[in-house]
Amino acid sequence: MAEARTIMPGGVSSPVRAFKSVGGEPIVFDRVKGSKAYDVDGNEYVDYVGTWGPAIVGHADDRVLDAIKETMDKGTSFGAPCALENELAKMVIDAVPSVEMVRFTNSGTEACMGVLRLMRAYTKREKVIKFEGCYHGHADSFLVAAGSGVITLGLADSPGVTAGAAASTLVAKYNDLASVEELLKANKDEVAGVILEGVVGNSGFIVPDKEFLVGLRALCDKCVPPPPAAALPLPVRRLQRHLRSTRLRLHRASATPPAGTARSSSSTR
Ligand SMILES: Cc1ncc(COP(=O)(O)O)c(C=O)c1O
Repeated sequence: MAEARTIMPGGVSSPVRAFKSVGGEPIVFDRVKGSKAYDVDGNEYVDYVGTWGPAIVGHADDRVLDAIKETMDKGTSFGAPCALENELAKMVIDAVPSVEMVRFTNSGTEACMGVLRLMRAYTKREKVIKFEGCYHGHADSFLVAAGSGVITLGLADSPGVTAGAAASTLVAKYNDLASVEELLKANKDEVAGVILEGVVGNSGFIVPDKEFLVGLRALCDKCVPPPPAAALPLPVRRLQRHLRSTRLRLHRASATPPAGTARSSSSTR
């Protein structure tokens, strides 16, 4: 890490890995396999992070490595469309019912920047609400912690963020619906959308209240009404069909458990 700090800001390639605001020293890893991670001193760790999601089947799974090797033999990147992109996009759409289309990005920062652009383009509004303690990458609009004081200018956390970017980011309190309502009232017809970590992982581990998430959804729909059903694009209708058929399958599974099988709570999943 000492050398890393002399050649990369904070010694890292993502601001959140620097440990600067939480103290301590980042662990330098050497390799991973299955559920285990090993540091350069040979210590073994059980890894609950899973590279923040991508290692969902465990690290360096042999089947995954074989598929990567096979693909690498064809070249490492084309800078042009390829058939595998469609395959991956369809897998994501099938796995996550709320996803209608996919834009792949290289980082979470880029993904959140795209979301922000989409919100603003769709609503033709500029302001966005984020929550204290939620991190969405290092794009200007997200590096703001103050600004919840109604129409006051937000103060950026990070030098280099423009006053304009800070002013269009409003900050609410997580799990506090009233703080969102207050901002929406003070910025009537100006808020493009709300961005949050569903379960906060960037300022400790904070579980959302169910009422908070449900209430937030309702507030957003009130603020920017969803399009009427007839105008829904095909993927949304596909999602609605999926939800209906899922409910049907759940019902059937619980009504007719396989012969000789004790019914447990997991049998209805
Ligand atoms: C919820 C969330 N969004 C966005 C990001 C930014 O991702 P990246 O570091 O890949 O730019 C992070 C990174 O920690 C994150 O936790």
